[in-house]
Amino acid sequence: MARVLFVCLGNICRSPMAEAIFRDMVNKEGLGHKINIESAGTGSWHVGSPPHKGTATLLSEKGISTEGMKARQIVPEDADKFDYIIAMDSQNLIDIKKAIQAKEGVVMTRLLDLVEDAPFFDVPDPYFTGDFDEVYELVVKGCQALLERIKNERLADA
Ligand code: 4NP
Repeated sequence: MARVLFVCLGNICRSPMAEAIFRDMVNKEGLGHKINIESAGTGSWHVGSPPHKGTATLLSEKGISTEGMKARQIVPEDADKFDYIIAMDSQNLIDIKKAIQAKEGVVMTRLLDLVEDAPFFDVPDPYFTGDFDEVYELVVKGCQALLERIKNERLADA
């Protein structure tokens, strides 16, 4: 079993996109019962809101559902509930480390740190850039790398 939390600033654009894409990927590999996936924001402005229209529309075009998803803020207890806490950018990672106490064995990293030869390590924020397609491409690459890592580290004997 592996438990994954994707984190961005508002939990309406990037991290819900990563949550939905990763869940879709994991389900397509028949691993849905072995990997729990959630997302959260470091900020509280959008708590209770559904994903941003840009994220929801793009994912709907790709056949990926965002139904029922609602933004929440990270809480200290998340340190006990997840094995992989995956930040979308460097500031998210700084803020996560302020908000929750890192537990031994919990992987805390930026998503693009997992991608070999990534040209940069921060997933640009489409709330400001408006470029949701760019985020989709980066998040897919990051999620593929994350799934490979989890298979090696946690599901190798499955
Ligand atoms: P996200 O994007 O962190 O990818 O969800 C943002 C959403 C909202 C805000 C900032 C970033 N905001 O300032 O309200």
